[in-house]
Amino acid sequence: MTKTDTVLDEATEQVRRARVEKCKRPTIAGFFDEATNTISYVVHDPATRQAAITDSVLDYEAASGRTSNSSADRIIEYVDAHALSVAWHIETHAHADHISAAPFLQEKLGGKLGIGRGIIKVQDVFGKLFNAGTDFQRDGSQFDRLFDDGDSFALGELETIVLHVPGHTPADMAFIIGDAAFVGDTMFMPDFGTARADFPGGDAGQLFRSIRRLLALPDETRLFLCHDYKAPGRDVYAWETTVRQQREGNVHVKDGVTEEEFVAMRNARDATLSMPALIMPSVQVNIRGGRLPEPEENGVAYIKIPVNAL
Ligand SMILES: [Fe+2]
Repeated sequence: MTKTDTVLDEATEQVRRARVEKCKRPTIAGFFDEATNTISYVVHDPATRQAAITDSVLDYEAASGRTSNSSADRIIEYVDAHALSVAWHIETHAHADHISAAPFLQEKLGGKLGIGRGIIKVQDVFGKLFNAGTDFQRDGSQFDRLFDDGDSFALGELETIVLHVPGHTPADMAFIIGDAAFVGDTMFMPDFGTARADFPGGDAGQLFRSIRRLLALPDETRLFLCHDYKAPGRDVYAWETTVRQQREGNVHVKDGVTEEEFVAMRNARDATLSMPALIMPSVQVNIRGGRLPEPEENGVAYIKIPVNAL
């Protein structure tokens, strides 16, 4: 990227300041959901105890169509035990592999729900796929805040900045809080590589450029990932790494890999992947801010499955 990237410069300065002064760094707890390989985080400002919850998971059993809250309850227990006040529920994007627990957590803990402005595009694409009626607003109004590149949000006394990192989906955002970047589905652990780019609206070249933008942050930036699947030779789950580790060793995007090489690799690999098991319920609910479709006249909410459409 040759054009001046002032948002990236601001993010870089923020990370540098937080590396110098410990009080500018957030406290972070990761919650791993083994059923969907998702990591949700509770991120808080130690000075004010204000917290943000990222990419929460509502448990959903596909066979029975039953939801439950045990993953969300673990988060609530942590928030209570540490006497945190929740200011934000943040989605790095509209997930295709799990249903968000944000509405449930908002009801229990308060806080606003935020996502990238690209959700409007995602709502349009999937609103059509699911033949959602005119009652389904495709304007992002199901969320309290739509983030743009360079936006900041209040989290106690911590500095924050949001980067638009499309490619996996058009709505992907990275949330940088102090020296910690929550990178959603862009990169995974260095030994696993990167996220797929073949969902509707995805683009491998765009994903490469987004990742390289994140890897232009200072080497010591802490990166927190949204998923982990282990990797050949690694038997434990992991979700924290650094810019330096990614640049030196990410099997897909380490320094020296060109966009052309990445796109060829990513497209070839994506062609072998099947759709995530929970894509239909997840997308349908997550584009509504995690709310189930309105119940029908018998009081039951239904999840639709488009046949031969995806
Ligand atoms: Fe995703």
